[in-house]
Amino acid sequence: MTHIEDPALIESPDRPVVPMNDLSRAISRDRVALSGALANVLDSGHVVMGPNHDAFQQELGAYLNLDHVLGVASGTDALELAIKAVMPKGRNVVVTAANAGGYTSTAALRAGFVVRYADVDSDSLCLSATSVQSSLTADVGVLVVTHLYGNLTDITTLVEMCHASGIRVVEDCAQAIGARRNGRVAGSFGDIAATSFYPTKNLGAIGDGGAVLTNNQKHADTVKQLRQYGWSSKYQAELPGGMNSRLDELQAAFLRSRIPQLDGLNGRRRAIIARYTEASAGGPLQVMPAVGEHHVGHLAVARSSRRTELRAALVRQGVQTDIHFPYPDYKQPGFRPVSQSLPVTELASSEIFSLPCFPELTEGEVDRVCNAIGTLI
Ligand SMILES: Cc1ncc(COP(=O)(O)O)c(C=O)c1O
Repeated sequence: MTHIEDPALIESPDRPVVPMNDLSRAISRDRVALSGALANVLDSGHVVMGPNHDAFQQELGAYLNLDHVLGVASGTDALELAIKAVMPKGRNVVVTAANAGGYTSTAALRAGFVVRYADVDSDSLCLSATSVQSSLTADVGVLVVTHLYGNLTDITTLVEMCHASGIRVVEDCAQAIGARRNGRVAGSFGDIAATSFYPTKNLGAIGDGGAVLTNNQKHADTVKQLRQYGWSSKYQAELPGGMNSRLDELQAAFLRSRIPQLDGLNGRRRAIIARYTEASAGGPLQVMPAVGEHHVGHLAVARSSRRTELRAALVRQGVQTDIHFPYPDYKQPGFRPVSQSLPVTELASSEIFSLPCFPELTEGEVDRVCNAIGTLI
């Protein structure tokens, strides 16, 4: 995660900084379990595709109630593999949002497909049936829906609409692992899903990692082959587009030890955002709500047309902030975009910013952020 380089944020004993994140706290909380996991891997002698990898796939599958969880090396790899596995023959366009950090663009371009951007809904900042409708032409094979900020967006209509046109739906659950709507988890609505275990994610590793999720046996078999060189069996490269993307034993063992905590930690994130929502009532900040089990509070996102000024005021009070995400994908040369302008995406990218939100924030720190929000006029 990035940090604001601002001299006003230099910590002093009388004014400690409330950070955007501090991974050392979760590591120290989980130290005994993580050390046990490390010892278990060292003792086993297996380093990739061993017993911890298999057990993790099973345990996360059981937690999510999904048939197939396939460990891979990162969330971006998971997106690439998922898109490749479901792209219908004869189509080559991926439609997605331009406000979700560019991970889908990276993955789809690496897979050799064309990316087209649709605007997002002005409340959820996620794709909706209305916002994508005009983009779903006959060459579109895949729609990637990101459950942004932890919000399992209601994609039932989107999925119906796509399936009626032979378009497959990939859910990006990297920010929404554990989110549920009417008993169904994020990742179970589309054809396939991708997630990330980047250390700051709600279920984070101590390094990189990711997974592809699906209930579809055929898609799972394709991903299994593609994540290991396209092999059907050892050294037999059957499928084109294979890569080496494996979740190593250490990360799998660390992640196994953290699954049981996930629901509790997601609840803590929601509680922090609820405090910020309360503190911002009547003031110049609108904090996006994170209420109910469909939202796992990955980020506490606020909006204001006076973003620069308000962020500076928060920084002066020792509160770090960040922007997720500042540049629409179609404005980034690295994604070889065609020129376009999406009004909801653009307005949001000029107004949004994130407040500190991770489960290990102390109550004192949450109070400090709330007090700082309360001084904004
Ligand atoms: C929404 C979203 N998708 C995909 C990714 C990519 O995951 P990774 O960093 O593991 O490649 C991330 C985070 O980094 C993300 O926030």
